[in-house]
Amino acid sequence: LRPEVIVNCAASIDGKTALPDGRALSLSTKMDFRRVHELRNSCDAIIVGVRTVIADDPSLRVKPEFVKAPRKVLRIVLDSKGMTPKGARVLDGTIPTLVATAIGGSRTEALKDARTRGIEIMEMGEGRVDLKALLEELGRRGSRKVLVEGGGTIVWALLEAGLVDHLMVFQRNIVIGGKGPSVAAGDGASSEGTTVPMDLLGVEKMEDGVLFHYVPKAGKNVRGKGEGKGN
Ligand SMILES: NC(=O)c1ccc[n+]([C@@H]2O[C@H](COP(=O)([O-])OP(=O)(O)OC[C@H]3O[C@@H](n4cnc5c(N)ncnc54)[C@H](OP(=O)(O)O)[C@@H]3O)[C@@H](O)[C@H]2O)c1
Repeated sequence: LRPEVIVNCAASIDGKTALPDGRALSLSTKMDFRRVHELRNSCDAIIVGVRTVIADDPSLRVKPEFVKAPRKVLRIVLDSKGMTPKGARVLDGTIPTLVATAIGGSRTEALKDARTRGIEIMEMGEGRVDLKALLEELGRRGSRKVLVEGGGTIVWALLEAGLVDHLMVFQRNIVIGGKGPSVAAGDGASSEGTTVPMDLLGVEKMEDGVLFHYVPKAGKNVRGKGEGKGN
C-alpha cells in the first residue's frame, strides 16, 4: 500500500507559485509557515521535483522556530537525469535523503559525490521516475504519509496518475500574472475529460490569504492495488 500523499503549495490569486522567471517570492505568511512546518513534522517524507531544487535550493528541514520538537524527516528529490546541483542544500548529508532518478540517471558527479555523504540514490522508471513504484517502495519501508511540496510539474504528474489524496493551497492575496510556474503544470489536460475534478473539503481565511483543502472526487485517486479504487 502506498502512503497517503498530501500536496501543499503556496500560490497567488492567479495560481502562480513563483515569479514569471521562476524566482521564488514570499507567498506564505507566518501562520502558514507554522502550518507547513507542523505538516512536515507529521510526515514520513518530503518530496520535491529537481527544478524546485535548482530554482529555490530548499533545505526541506522542519525548523525549530515553528515546531517544538522538530524531526529529521526524509527528504526526497525526484530527479530523472541526476541534475541536482552538487552544492544543493538537500545533498548536505545532515538529514536522511533520497534522490530518485530514472534508470541510468544516477551516474552524475553530483550524485556520486552525494553517495559518499550517505545519500541514497535509487533508480526507477524509464525516462522519468516511476512515481507509483517509488510510493509503493516508500510504503514497503513503512512510510504512511508523505508531503509533496512542488513544483507544478511533479504535482500535475501525481494528480494525473491518481496518486494525490489531499491538495492544500494557501492562496495569498496578490496577483503575479505572466506565464510563470503554477500549482499544476506539466502538459496539463487535453480535454475537459482529462482534468482532475476535486471536492473542496475546507476553506480558512488566514492572515493575508486563504487556505483551501481539496480532495480528489470519489474514485479519482488510486491507493494500493487496483486502478480507480479510491481510498
Ligand atoms: N510556491 C510554492 O509552493 C512552490 C513550491 C515548489 C516550487 N515552486 C516553484 O516552482 C518552480 C519549479 O517547478 P517546476 O514545475 O518547474 O519543476 P518541479 O516540479 O520542481 O521539477 C520538475 C522535474 O521533476 C523531474 N521528474 C522526475 N520524475 C518525474 C515524473 N515522474 N514526472 C514529472 N517530472 C518528473 C523532471 O525532471 P526531468 O525533466 O529531468 O525528467 C522535471 O523536470 C520554481 O520556480 C519554484 O520556485 C513553488
